[in-house]
Amino acid sequence: MKDNIILIGFMGSGKTSVGIRLSYALKRTMIDTDKWIEKKNGMTVSEIFAKQGEKEFRRMETDCIRGFIENENHQIISTGGGLPVREENHALLKELGRVYYLKAAPETVYERLKGDTTRPLLQGDDPMSKIKELLAVRAPLYEKCADVIIDVSGKNFDTIIEEIVRKERQNENTHYQRT
Ligand code: S3P
Repeated sequence: MKDNIILIGFMGSGKTSVGIRLSYALKRTMIDTDKWIEKKNGMTVSEIFAKQGEKEFRRMETDCIRGFIENENHQIISTGGGLPVREENHALLKELGRVYYLKAAPETVYERLKGDTTRPLLQGDDPMSKIKELLAVRAPLYEKCADVIIDVSGKNFDTIIEEIVRKERQNENTHYQRT
C-alpha cells in the first residue's frame, strides 16, 4: 500500500477545502482526480458529462487512480464524489493509500452547494431530493472504502484537520512499532 492520504465523500463534503488545509498541516502536496481529468482532457467535468456522458467520466476516474498508483506517493488526494461508486475502484483506493471518508449530512451538502452550477448531477429542480437519493446509494459504499470516517457536519475546519492529523500520527506510530 502506498503512503497517500485519500479523501472521499459526497459533493460538498469539503474534500478540496480540507485537502488544502491538510496539505499545509502535513507539508504534503495535494492532487485532485477531477482536476487531473480536466487537465488531461482539456475540458471541465461538466463538459465531459455533456459531451461524453457520465459512464465515460467514470472510466476516466478509474484511469486516473490507476495512474496515481503508478506515479504518486506521499500526496493528499482529493477524489470526485462518485468515484467509490465503481466497484473496481475499491481495491484501487486501498492500494493507493489510507482512505478518509468525510461524512456529511444532506442538509450540510445542500447548504454548501445551493446555487452551484459546476456539479452536473445536481442541476435539476429539486437538488435536495437528488442529494438524498444519491447519498442513500453511496453512503454504504463510502463506508466500505473508508479506513477512517470523519463526521464533518457542524464541525469547523480546524477540528476536522486535528482529527485527521491525530489519526495520521497514530498510524505513523503503529507503522514504526511494526518495522
Ligand atoms: C461527482 C462529484 C464531483 C465531480 C462530478 C461527479 C459525483 O466532484 O467528480 O461532478 O458523482 O458525486 P466533487 O465531489 O469534488 O464535487
